[in-house]
Amino acid sequence: VSNMQVAVLGATGMIGQRFIQLLEGHPFFDINGLYASERSDGKRVSQVLKIKDYEFDQETLETEIKQIDVKKIAESCRIAFSGLPSEIARDIEQDLADKGVAVFSNASSHRMRDDVPLLIPEVNPDHLEVIRSQKTFGDGGFIVTNANCSTTGIALPLKALDDAFGLKLVCVSTYQALSGAGYPGVPSLDIIGNVLPYIKSEEEKMEMEILKMLGILEDGRVRFADFDMLANCVRVPVIDGHLESLIMTFVEDPDLDEVASALSEFRADPQHLELPTAPIEPIIVRDEVDRPQPALDAYAGEPERARGMAVTVGRLRKKDMYFKAFALSHNTLRGGAGGSVLNAELAVEKGYLR
Ligand SMILES: NC(=O)c1ccc[n+]([C@@H]2O[C@H](COP(=O)([O-])OP(=O)(O)OC[C@H]3O[C@@H](n4cnc5c(N)ncnc54)[C@H](OP(=O)(O)O)[C@@H]3O)[C@@H](O)[C@H]2O)c1
Repeated sequence: VSNMQVAVLGATGMIGQRFIQLLEGHPFFDINGLYASERSDGKRVSQVLKIKDYEFDQETLETEIKQIDVKKIAESCRIAFSGLPSEIARDIEQDLADKGVAVFSNASSHRMRDDVPLLIPEVNPDHLEVIRSQKTFGDGGFIVTNANCSTTGIALPLKALDDAFGLKLVCVSTYQALSGAGYPGVPSLDIIGNVLPYIKSEEEKMEMEILKMLGILEDGRVRFADFDMLANCVRVPVIDGHLESLIMTFVEDPDLDEVASALSEFRADPQHLELPTAPIEPIIVRDEVDRPQPALDAYAGEPERARGMAVTVGRLRKKDMYFKAFALSHNTLRGGAGGSVLNAELAVEKGYLR
């Protein structure tokens, strides 16, 4: 069987370029076209490179970026991977779904719709089923979203811990990388030698999205989880990798070894199905007193295609009823393009993409 043809939307941005990286040599998907705004029309990838830690194939570097043309994409592609800003994504993604294209999006515009799954294949693979209630599903078009990058980083450990011990309260404080703000992002004079204790709408997104993802599918709809979730979000001068501090209480009272085992032994559909971008160990637990760190752990994950897809958890501690930990994940890979690619791989394996 030949590979599915895919379009990348926002191909000049931080997420778009991670899509291109992950789609090079992909066993299921072939890049059919790279798209961005009118400003980028006719430019080659080599002229708009944003990612500095990956070497693209020569063929990719020579590929021309085109202005988005919904009709053309619908004629040539089965899938569109979207790294568009939310304001732009809302209409373009719906137009594509209306024309029979399966859209896997990083944008927030459709995340909270009842008929759109907010999907992480290790966390809530069954939620994919809600796409059947999108009116375009019969013609092959639908929208699947992934969560905000900071929510994704804690969703995997929280899922493992909720399954094992029942979450009651989660307080998270983030140390978020600059690439999470897109390109060029935060002005250098605001962030070098500084931290910014405000990221617009981020805390609200985290507090809502996690409850949708850890919710239960009932009669084709997601019933939100009901533990207490509090977030403080901060931008720090790091290029890639969101570090997040967690303080949690559980229904049960496990000891720390049990917490560590629940995390490190966690496996889910992507591992059982051996999806190409799935890390063999989705949650890596480290014992060192000074891990995880963005500089050392952002690219955790094996095999090669799953680098940056594992979440690293460390500094597990317990005080009275409170459990403390740090989690780290790559915001544009696991928290962005990698999340969407894994969602599409799951949709292929589960038969939603014929
Ligand atoms: N960065 C992260 O860690 C992260 C994680 C999860 C989700 N997200 C979400 O993913 C999306 C992309 O984020 P990003 O960080 O990659 O942003 P970015 O670096 O600013 O890239 C935005 C992309 O959208 C294109 N674009 C902007 N306006 C357009 C228009 N009018 N028509 C067509 N294309 C247009 C840009 O093309 P031009 O170069 O031509 O302007 C560029 O390719 C956002 O919705 C963001 O919230 C980001």
